[in-house]
Amino acid sequence: MHFQWFPGHMTKAIRSMKEDIRLIDIVIELIDARIPISSRNPEIDTLAQGKTRILLLNKTDMADKSQTDKWVEYFESKDLYALSINAKKKQDLNRVNKLIDEAVRVKREKDLKRGIKNRPVRAMIVGIPNVGKSTFINSFSGRASTKTGNKPGVTKGKQWIRLSAGKNGGSVELLDTPGILWPKFEDQIVGLHLAWIGSIKDELIVTTDLALDLIEFLEAEHKGVISEHYGFEPEGDSVHILEQLATARGCKAKGGEPDFDKAAFFLLDDFRNARLGSITIECVS
Ligand code: G4P
Repeated sequence: MHFQWFPGHMTKAIRSMKEDIRLIDIVIELIDARIPISSRNPEIDTLAQGKTRILLLNKTDMADKSQTDKWVEYFESKDLYALSINAKKKQDLNRVNKLIDEAVRVKREKDLKRGIKNRPVRAMIVGIPNVGKSTFINSFSGRASTKTGNKPGVTKGKQWIRLSAGKNGGSVELLDTPGILWPKFEDQIVGLHLAWIGSIKDELIVTTDLALDLIEFLEAEHKGVISEHYGFEPEGDSVHILEQLATARGCKAKGGEPDFDKAAFFLLDDFRNARLGSITIECVS
């Protein structure tokens, strides 16, 4: 299977992010806890140079908890502030607030030494599409008015959301429009993992092939998941297992043949919504 991406969009988005980032002290990068490597864009290292960096592993409710903990430790060992969250849970956002407070302490102390008091620290959310940026901003701001959806290049009168009065004085302001980065598609494994979690539009890929690859991964790394969820014992290669799945789910094409496309859709939908369990695709090596 071959994945492609669209550098035209990327260039535009990066340009607008470069403008915004000049106003920013902290860059908060959201990644998907199921694919902590593939959901990062290396471009961010260049963009966020010299800024305080926070990495939030989102959607932890859909990932394996012990793996997520290992990933947090891994990123901390790389000198990043890291935290696992579920952007839909308000309690998790308190933990984020605390971490922001810790991360900006140095900045505030520096400001104080220079006689600057109560200057708001400004933060920006960045991440690849579908990672949960809008959800996070909405939850954090407590407003439903934050724009949702992915609209690169939307011209914006910059809006700031005031977050909290931190312990060390001064507040934190969050830019209400996230920076959207496209994932790197040059590595085909990265493309595959992004497609499994639904971060590449299905119109751009052959879902049946995607499902066959997913079956191979599940059979190799999570034996038992398919039989447990669909109630049959997988036999033979991935094509045969997809056929078994079509039969088990009653997916029939005209003439009573097994409908592979429909079965592939069911499998991917179940996997993407963690109905097959909380599975981390990329583990700490
Ligand atoms: P984006 O701005 O980065 O593109 O992502 P967005 O917030 O639109 O989130 C993409 C999808 O991921 C949404 O689901 C959202 O609800 C879901 N999501 C975000 N954070 C979490 C999380 O921590 N856990 C879980 N389980 N889901 C999360 P959707 O189906 O597209 O929309 P909706 O049905 O929730 O409205």
